[in-house]
Amino acid sequence: MRPNPSDLFCNDLPTKPQPEVGKILVAGASGYIGGRLVPELLNRGYKVRVMLRASIADKDRWSGAEMVVADASAPNLLGQALDGIHTAYYLIHSMLLERNQFEEAHIKASINFRKIAEEKKVQNIIYLGGLSDLQTSPSPHFRIRNQVAEELRKGKVPATILRSDLIVGSGSASFEIIRHLVRNCPVLLMPPWANAKLQPIAIRDVIKYLVGVLETPDAWGRTFDIVGADSLTFKDLLKTMAEILGKKRFFVPCSISSVEAYAYAAGFFTPVPVQITRCLLEGCRNEGASLNNEIRRLLPNQTLSYREAIVRALSREDQDKIYTRWSDAYPPAHELAIKLDELQEAPTYSSYYSLLTDKSASSLFKRICKIGGREGWFNSSWLWRLRGVLDRVLMGVGTSRGRKNATSLNVNDVVDFWRVEDCRPDERILLRAEMKLPGRAWLEFRIDPENNKNRLSVKAYYQTRGVWGKLYWYAFLPFHIFIFKDLITQIERTSVEGGTNHKI
Ligand SMILES: NC(=O)c1ccc[n+]([C@@H]2O[C@H](COP(=O)([O-])OP(=O)(O)OC[C@H]3O[C@@H](n4cnc5c(N)ncnc54)[C@H](OP(=O)(O)O)[C@@H]3O)[C@@H](O)[C@H]2O)c1
Repeated sequence: MRPNPSDLFCNDLPTKPQPEVGKILVAGASGYIGGRLVPELLNRGYKVRVMLRASIADKDRWSGAEMVVADASAPNLLGQALDGIHTAYYLIHSMLLERNQFEEAHIKASINFRKIAEEKKVQNIIYLGGLSDLQTSPSPHFRIRNQVAEELRKGKVPATILRSDLIVGSGSASFEIIRHLVRNCPVLLMPPWANAKLQPIAIRDVIKYLVGVLETPDAWGRTFDIVGADSLTFKDLLKTMAEILGKKRFFVPCSISSVEAYAYAAGFFTPVPVQITRCLLEGCRNEGASLNNEIRRLLPNQTLSYREAIVRALSREDQDKIYTRWSDAYPPAHELAIKLDELQEAPTYSSYYSLLTDKSASSLFKRICKIGGREGWFNSSWLWRLRGVLDRVLMGVGTSRGRKNATSLNVNDVVDFWRVEDCRPDERILLRAEMKLPGRAWLEFRIDPENNKNRLSVKAYYQTRGVWGKLYWYAFLPFHIFIFKDLITQIERTSVEGGTNHKI
């Protein structure tokens, strides 16, 4: 979904667009920040090239931009991505790599990018990193961001570095962690690091600064810290959220300071995977980063307070206008996952259920587009949730990722532990499983015309070779009969001609 022009953040930016500088590359365009930046640049008249790790079927999302497929860890295609580029945004990041790969992968990618940018005579690299002191930060995650900034700065191409603390906005991981913890936990344990000061910043201010530094040549090649209007502890962040949501919550000090343990426990109450939660919470221990406020002089901007950022994020959710979400880039390299239509042989196992109906294809399709998330999965919602809990125990995505938009689906959108692989209006929705499985699974909804009626069907596909995979399929087979029959019966029953469908 592309934002409406009135929802863009840079409409009141004091700087003037300068599309004449040349083409702009956004590397990491499928991520939370990159996905918000691209429409802003396009709206300001820039020629934009987006760099993605795999070609995305949802071409609409990038309409107006040129698309190039490249992976920063493999330099051979970076030349094509950086060719003819004036400014390159480096918004590449992965919080989900194993600790032993984390450092090497990030450093290698930034070195590749810097070298090829130099070869291609790029004029400016803009990087968004984390706010912490390189020497004193206890967080490996934040130290890597600083090292990436250092690597990018080493080359001949000026690197403009913005450093930010937690980013708060609709769909941001920090916002969802805080909101879910407050919603779901009447008693909140407060480890010692919950009293360290942070300066969260609203996503709209981050985007304004990212665009603003592009339009301010005096800023090129320099490092700036970008922060929100107030300085708060992790406990303050939770308290403010509780006040806004009208929840009475009890804060109990606890002496266990392990971020790892806190993140694992939080994983049962929030949709955000443990690995991302751990990285973000590690940032809460970063108190003491000395601030460089120079950006305020170069780019005057009244940043939002944390409270204002939260209120705006909640209202975006209410209006069903979340344009990017942390789950867009999670699991990592999901774009590279094998698609059902790419399999050389048909999946080994499948289950098929269908019914014939007088209802129109458009009403059935609209109803399918609402499944999952808060609406749930009809009578068998509890079974899906149980499967989600099992997945969280195994450190998978679980069902609580929910959905970005309540009523519409696009290729790549998340629906609980599924991701949309194909979406053909009034015809087909194909979901690919992203939960932990001993195989690969898909769920396909189809609407096919038949004798002046419509056949609504659901088909589960499962591909496996191993013994565990086969056992898994047969163990869940009895549940399929109940779940899938119920699913299509309820979709048919609750779809309404002409628009709004029933809530389940
Ligand atoms: N979000 C925050 O709270 C926050 C706070 C402070 C700073 N930042 C900074 O903001 C930047 C962007 O963060 P984000 O939240 O937008 O991250 P994100 O949602 O996780 O997106 C990361 C992007 O990097 C891409 N990527 C990962 N590895 C790649 C590779 N080897 N080659 C090419 N692309 C690759 C991903 O592509 P795939 O879709 O293919 O995986 C995705 O588009 C990062 O530099 C981060 O340090 C973020």
